[in-house]
Order: sequence, then structure tokens, then C-alpha cells
Amino acid sequence: MTTLVIGGAGYIGSHVVRLLVERGEHVVVVDDLSTGFAERARGADLVELDVTLPDAQDKLAFHLHASGADSVIHFAAHKQVGESVAKPELYWHDNIAGLANVLAACASAGVRDVVFSSSAAVYGVPDVDLVTEELIPAPINPYGETKLVGEWMLADAERAHDLRTVALRYFNVAGTGWPDLADTQVMNLVPIVLDALDKGKKPIVFGEDYDTPDGTCIRDYVHVVDLAEAHISALDYLRGEERPYRVFNVGTGTGSSVLDVIAALSRALGEEIVPEIGPRRPGDPAKLVCSTDRIRETLGWSSSKSLDDIVESAVAARRGTPEATSA
Ligand code: WQD
Repeated sequence: MTTLVIGGAGYIGSHVVRLLVERGEHVVVVDDLSTGFAERARGADLVELDVTLPDAQDKLAFHLHASGADSVIHFAAHKQVGESVAKPELYWHDNIAGLANVLAACASAGVRDVVFSSSAAVYGVPDVDLVTEELIPAPINPYGETKLVGEWMLADAERAHDLRTVALRYFNVAGTGWPDLADTQVMNLVPIVLDALDKGKKPIVFGEDYDTPDGTCIRDYVHVVDLAEAHISALDYLRGEERPYRVFNVGTGTGSSVLDVIAALSRALGEEIVPEIGPRRPGDPAKLVCSTDRIRETLGWSSSKSLDDIVESAVAARRGTPEATSA
């Protein structure tokens, strides 16, 4: 089988590429290398291409034909919530036009199977204990809006061109399966805390007055290797006969507070981290934890790694020590 992984030189995409290569699949990585690294595409063919450009559709169709690809996994997108609020036009164009080019190329090349990287951001700030896929999406920022529109585009393409599509709504991804695939962008809690400590600064907790047991926000942290495995399961699902759903949450079903994460990092580092308590960050829901029933019952996927596994792998990668867990 041959899979085209768009954004496969990025943090999450490269973990999926590594798993696909390890299981003997032929992989073509398409990436503009704006935030990814060519070295991460080890074992795969690499095509440097910005899928948001006007001529990308034809170029993608050519590579789909030339490689004999039978499936596509699309990761390439901007994903910073704050940036999306400041520059919505960047997100409307790149996230949506890029996906439009990918879907048009699949239709013209006769490639049916598409796995799409969506996000829990489509839910906005749900006031429920566990988020299920039946919840009506209500994104509160342009980033989340582009992910929801992307899901609609998949459904339109499926109807128009007989594609087989699935969208995976990621909750909070962290950790690494290999040190060379660690998240190099400092945009989420775990890398932000580690970066602050490396700079001799105190990490800042955004608010301690939420309606949660310790007052800090709760999220569903999922190991990037578990998430990558979910993409492999999604590909196998698309190649199967029964496909009752097109959207799946990907998380652990377990919540961890900001202070829980900091305590886990303290354990992994062997030193106590004393954070500063700062003001709330606008737009943060108090709790965002997913139900994993649908993905478990339909794809047979469940997370296997704990919060300690996540932070230990991130710490080991940061320290450049070989113990960073491999998949
Ligand atoms: C996690 C928690 C912060 C930094 C975002 C995207 C979402 C998804 C995951 C792509 C929050 C708190 C953070 C800090 C803190 N990305 N925090 N101090 O906002 O849950 O989700 O990333 O799909 O779409 O929205 O992730 O890592 O920014 O924050 O207290 O220095 O850590 O308030 O509660 P978030 P995050």
C-alpha cells in the first residue's frame, strides 16, 4: 500500500510516517518544510510542495498517480489558536484552500481514502463532563472553524467523488516516540513548561480559579504515538467494508489538570517545579475531556500511554537521552 502524507515532516505527521514505514508501507511525504524537517521523513520519499498554492492541485495529482498512492493523510495546516484570531485570513486560505487542493487532486487521481487531521477545537467550550462526537460543534476561534469547515468539505467530496473519508478530532497531543520527532514548536503546555525551565524561568499557570478540583484547567493529554496509531487504524477502517462514522475523537478519556501535568514533569525531571499562578487565558474551557467510546468500539483503538509516559518521553527528548520512548 502507498500513502501520501501531507505535512508528514511535521511533529504528528512524522510519527505516522515512521509507523507506516515500520509496517512496510510505501510512504510519500509532501511538505513545504516551513515548520517541518526533511530528516523526519526518513524511509519515505519526500516531495517539497506547498499545497496551498494555485498549481498544487495538479502537482499533487501527478504525485498521486506517479506513486500509485491509494490513500492520503492530510496534516498540513496552521494550528495556533491565538494566531488564528490575529490572522484569520491566513487560516481561511491555507487551512481551507490547502485541503481543497488535496481533495480535488484525490478526485482527479482516483484516490479514494482520505484521513483528515481535525481537532477538539471544533467543540469550542462545551459545558459537558465528557465530549462525544454527537455534540454539536461550536468553534470559538478561526482555527477551530477551519477544522469544522474541513470536515464539511470531506463530506461534500465523499458524496461528489465517492471518496472514503474520516476526520480525527485530536485532543491534547504531547510527548514523542523518537527524540528526533519531538515537538520543536513551543506552543502547548508541555513544551512551554520545559522551555521556561531551560531559560531559568518559572512556568505560568493560566488561572487557578476554575471550577475543577485544583482550580486549574483540565485537558485530555494523549501521547503522540497513540495518536499516530489511531491514524493507522483509521486507514485500515477506510479499507474495510463497514464505515458507520466519519468523525472520531482521539484522546484518552481521562482528564489531567495543569498542576497534574506540572507534577508529572517534576517527577520526570527529578526536581520540583514551582510555577507562577497567572490570570486566566481568554477562551480556555475549564475542562475538555473526550469520550473514547466511538473510536474504541468502531476502530478498536484505545490509548495505551499514561501522562507520565508522555512527559517522560518529552523530557528525555529534550535532554537528548536515548531513553526517549520509541513506539
Ligand atoms: C493546555 C492547558 C492552558 C500554557 C490547544 C488547541 C487545540 C489543540 C491542543 C490542535 C490550558 C494551560 C498552557 C501555559 C498554562 N491543538 N496552559 N500555561 O489550549 O488546551 O488546546 O492545543 O489541535 O486545538 O486549542 O492547549 O497546550 O495551549 O493549553 O496554564 O504556559 O494548559 O490554559 O488549560 P489547549 P494548550
